Amino acid sequence: MTDQPQPQALRAELLAVALEAAQRAGTFLRDGRPEDLGVAATKSSAVDVVTEMDIASEKLITDFLADRRPGDGVLGEEGASTEGTTGVQWVIDPIDGTVNYLYGRPDWSVSIAARKDGETVVGVVGAPMRGETYRAVLGEGAYVNDRPARTRTAPPFEQALVGTGFGYIAARRAHQAEIARQLIPRVRDIRRGGSAAIDLCDVAVGRLDAYYERGLNPWDFAAGELIAREAGALTGGRPGQAPSGELTIAAPPGLFEQLQGFLDEQGAWHD
Ligand code: IPD
Repeated sequence: MTDQPQPQALRAELLAVALEAAQRAGTFLRDGRPEDLGVAATKSSAVDVVTEMDIASEKLITDFLADRRPGDGVLGEEGASTEGTTGVQWVIDPIDGTVNYLYGRPDWSVSIAARKDGETVVGVVGAPMRGETYRAVLGEGAYVNDRPARTRTAPPFEQALVGTGFGYIAARRAHQAEIARQLIPRVRDIRRGGSAAIDLCDVAVGRLDAYYERGLNPWDFAAGELIAREAGALTGGRPGQAPSGELTIAAPPGLFEQLQGFLDEQGAWHD
């Protein structure tokens, strides 16, 4: 006998904790957004902004996790970083889509993933202005609210609706714009939603055929990547590689390989 919970029981517990944390933070952010919300600080560039609400949301989530799961590690966008002793690490984006939130646009989210011994086992993305929460447990499928989430069947490449995003550094953006310029004439269209976590969940529920972006941080994609994968998408980076800051791609089989090949050829993985 051991005191360690079995993997399935642990994942169920982590899912319940993540859902409650995302629900609390989402309600706080939706109901508490100040009318005169401004920029509290900037990070990698003048357009990479943090609001007081990003900081407050991260504190709300990390305080909640410390209460429910003391001993777990935490990695958060706004600086939370603890090692932990349990092998569980929480990867948190307290507002993914901060620029949307700043401008009062609806597509922002709270993204919370749990990793066990380095593997993402639970992902929750709350999108309060959509009234939707996306979730997945490794090997158990993905859900939007209480409905199963499934990707679309892969369309021909030229009929794909592809989401993407752009980083905050001007030189990187210029190259990303060049990749998008090459892609647009070859597909149905592209979308730039402003929250990578929601983009990945949109692949999971069939509101996008595919999504790719260079330059994501772990908190932007950890939860959404698992949700897209559990909904039937393939995910990766350059051929043979896992999704990462270098490149993250999600699409159903058939489209994934074509998009990955195109992006690799175009050099979407470098600045
Ligand atoms: C950003 C969003 C955006 C993506 C950027 C991310 P943040 O996250 O996910 O869609 O294009 O690369 O940095 O800064 O709003 O948490």
